Amino acid sequence: MISLSLSTPHGGTLINQIDTHIDLSAIQYEIEIDAMALSDLELIANGAYSPLTGFLGHEDYESVVARMRLKNDMVWSIPITLPVSETEAKHLKVGEKVKLTYQTIVYGVLDLQEIYVPDKDKEAKNVYGTMDPLHPGVQKLFSRQNVYLAGPIHLIRIPPKTKDFLPFYKTPVETRNEFKKRNWNTVVGFQTRNPVHRAHEYIQKTALENVDGLFLNPLVGETKSDDIPAKIRMKSYKVLLDNYYPKERVFLAVFPAAMRYAGPREAIFHAIVRKNYGCTHFIVGRDHAGVGNYYGTYDAQRIFTQFNSEEIGITILPFEHSFYCTKCESMASAKTCPHSKEDHLILSGTKVREMLRNGIAPPSEFSRPEVVQVLIEGLKHGN
Ligand code: ADX
Repeated sequence: MISLSLSTPHGGTLINQIDTHIDLSAIQYEIEIDAMALSDLELIANGAYSPLTGFLGHEDYESVVARMRLKNDMVWSIPITLPVSETEAKHLKVGEKVKLTYQTIVYGVLDLQEIYVPDKDKEAKNVYGTMDPLHPGVQKLFSRQNVYLAGPIHLIRIPPKTKDFLPFYKTPVETRNEFKKRNWNTVVGFQTRNPVHRAHEYIQKTALENVDGLFLNPLVGETKSDDIPAKIRMKSYKVLLDNYYPKERVFLAVFPAAMRYAGPREAIFHAIVRKNYGCTHFIVGRDHAGVGNYYGTYDAQRIFTQFNSEEIGITILPFEHSFYCTKCESMASAKTCPHSKEDHLILSGTKVREMLRNGIAPPSEFSRPEVVQVLIEGLKHGN
């Protein structure tokens, strides 16, 4: 049973395209999909990507790329696509069903409605704001195949889970039920692809002062190679939650999507997905889903002003760049601290990752020592 007492899913209905009883024997077509498409397949099927019921058709795709809306005007900022090679596409037939395999196991079935060639230059420019091949999202876009398949899907088998954090895979139905069980009426979602450092903790707990629960929802799908692996991060979240968060007010579950590094557009996508998981609020801090210097510090907050709040349907909680201030002797931001830059402890993500990889602990004002220990150990052993 689906509870709608929390946020209403995007489009009004939580999509369910899971069907483990589909008869595959009559389906003659088959394609192998990549890890990103496999995670998208699952997230479409379990409703995390509601209202999508499949991979975007040409008109929806062009509309999303051009104006961050599906052709029916609903807000949607990231194209969810299924790329195949030209050769593979030639062997398929519109109107037929196609088995979707990953490492030769069938996970889904696509009702093939369209085959089209995307304008990837435009997709890169509009979605990522750049065509720079060094941008990890752009690199990924161009490394995938050049023909897109579209149509509704069904998931017929749940994709493999990382066994280390098996209990933390939850569908939107499950998270909604969990929030309800906990009597949470307001829930703030937090996206992260990093360990939770003091600044994250500060903004999460500041938000938690005003809502019933925190949904810590780290992304554990594909990330760029120098990001800290999800397995290590998950250990660090558990240590932090066990020691510094009230258990009854925090719920941890993973978000198995691939990271796009699309900054502002991905912030919208992240917010809408968390709405589907049942959140009523969503944190967008500095340079959300950003990478390098491609986006302005607050672009990911500003982009929400292009839409009215009803069409986004989840309350965005924007946070200024937060840091430890040695004069205040606490976490603060430009909004709350009168002191100068020299008093602020600010370390770049790249710098912190480099320190951790070299076994050097960042100061405890930057990251809690228990967290640092887990990260250094994990990176040393590569697990
Ligand atoms: S992200 O790519 O998943 O967005 P990250 O894990 O670094 O990256 O950030 C998670 C969330 O915390 C994002 O909303 C981001 O904007 C916010 N955030 C990260 N660091 C800070 C900071 N120092 N001050 C304010 N917000 C921050």
